[in-house]
Amino acid sequence: MGKSVWTLAVAAAGLAGTLVSGQIAGPPPWAYGYHQGGPDPAPPACTPQSKPLDCARIGAPRPNDVAHTMPDTDRTFTEFQIHGDYGPGDWYPQDHPAMPDIVARGREADKLRACGLCHYPNGQGKAENAPVAALPMKYFVAQIEAFRSGTRRSADPRKANTNEMIQIARHLTDAEVQAAATYFSSMKWRPWVKVVETENAPKTRQTMNGLFMPMPGNETEPLGKRIMEVPENPEQTERFRNPRSGFVAYVPVGSVSAGETLVLKGGGKTVQCTLCHGADLMGNGDVPGIADRQVSYIARQLYDIQAGTRQSTAMRNVVAKLNDDDLIAIAAYLGSR
Ligand code: HEC
Ligand code: HEC
Repeated sequence: MGKSVWTLAVAAAGLAGTLVSGQIAGPPPWAYGYHQGGPDPAPPACTPQSKPLDCARIGAPRPNDVAHTMPDTDRTFTEFQIHGDYGPGDWYPQDHPAMPDIVARGREADKLRACGLCHYPNGQGKAENAPVAALPMKYFVAQIEAFRSGTRRSADPRKANTNEMIQIARHLTDAEVQAAATYFSSMKWRPWVKVVETENAPKTRQTMNGLFMPMPGNETEPLGKRIMEVPENPEQTERFRNPRSGFVAYVPVGSVSAGETLVLKGGGKTVQCTLCHGADLMGNGDVPGIADRQVSYIARQLYDIQAGTRQSTAMRNVVAKLNDDDLIAIAAYLGSR
C-alpha cells in the first residue's frame, strides 16, 4: 500500500481558495478510512457558502423504536435519539461538565450539527474525526481559524466529514468558539487507544464517513504497510455511540520500537517530538498532546502536513524527510504510550 495517485476534486480545491488540477501523489488511503485510492466515492459538493450539513454524507435513518440501556447510567435512548444531529444521546453526563449549547445541540437553523455528535460529549472523538478533549485553549481556537481560512483541509478530497468540519468552523460565532474551546480544554484525556503489532489484521469494511469496521466472522488479511484502526467494540461505537468504548490499532511488527527511536531521538531524520509536545507527549503549554490519541488521526495529520493541505510552520520541517515507514512507526509508537 504505497502512495496512491488521484485527481484532486474541484470541490476540495475550492475550499482552499485555489484551483488545483492534475495528478498529484496522494497519501495512503488507509489513513483516511478508505481501502483504495480516490477519487471515488466523491463527496457532496461543498462550497464556502454551504450549510455544514450539506457537505456531509448522510446515512439511512436509524430505528426509533427500542429504548436501549447502558451500564452505569439510568438514561435510555432509541438508536435514532443516540444519533440525533441536534441533541444526540448523552449516556454519561457524570463524565463531563455541563455542555455549552453548541456542544450539546449545535445550531439547527444553520444545519450545524452538535460537536458532541462526532467528538462525543467527553471530547475523546472517534478514529474518523478527532480527539478534542484536553487540547490547549489557544491551539483549539487556532485550528478553528485554520479551518475557516483554508489553511487546514484534508489531503484526501473524499473526506466529507472534514469538509463539514470546515463549514462548521465558518458558521461558529466567536462566542461559540470560546464556549466550546473552554469546555473541551477543561477536560483530562482518558486512556483511549490500544496498539497491537501483527502480521494479520481484521478484514474491514469502510463506513460512509471513513471509520473501518471489522467484518463479521473475525476474518483476517495481511496487514502489509498499513495501520488498521477499528473500534475495540464495533457495536458499542457504531450503533450506541458509547463514549467510554475506545479503539484498537493494528500496526506492523517492529513499528513501535522504530517509532520510539524517531519520536524520542529523531533518528537522524527528524526532531525529538518531546522538545515541543512535552516529556510525556501529553502536551506542553500551547502545543497539543499526541500520545494515546487515535492512531489513524495522528497519521492523517502527519500526511496532511506533509502534503501541505494542513499548514504548520512548526511541523513542516519535522515531517519533511519522513517516509511512509517512518510515519507509520511514529503513529504506532505514539498510540502505544
Ligand atoms: C460531522 C462531524 C463533526 C462535527 C459535528 C464536529 N466536528 Fe470537529 N472535527 C471533525 C473532523 C472530521 C475533524 C478533522 C479530522 C481530520 O482532520 O482528519 C474535526 C476536527 C476538529 C478540531 C481539530 C482537533 C485537533 O486536534 O486539531 C477541533 C478543534 C474541532 N473539530 C472542534 C469542533 C467543534 C467546536 C465542533 C462543534 C461546534 C465540532 N468540531 C463539530 C468532525 C466534526
Ligand atoms: C518545534 C516544535 C515541535 C516539534 C519538534 C514537533 N512538533 Fe508537532 N506540533 C507542534 C505545534 C506547535 C503543533 C500545533 C500545530 C501548529 O501550531 O502548527 C504541532 C502539531 C502536531 C500534530 C497535530 C496534533 C493534532 O491534534 O492535530 C501532530 C500529530 C504532531 N505535531 C506530531 C509531532 C511528531 C510526531 C513530532 C516528532 C517527530 C513532532 N510533532 C515534533 C510543534 C512541534
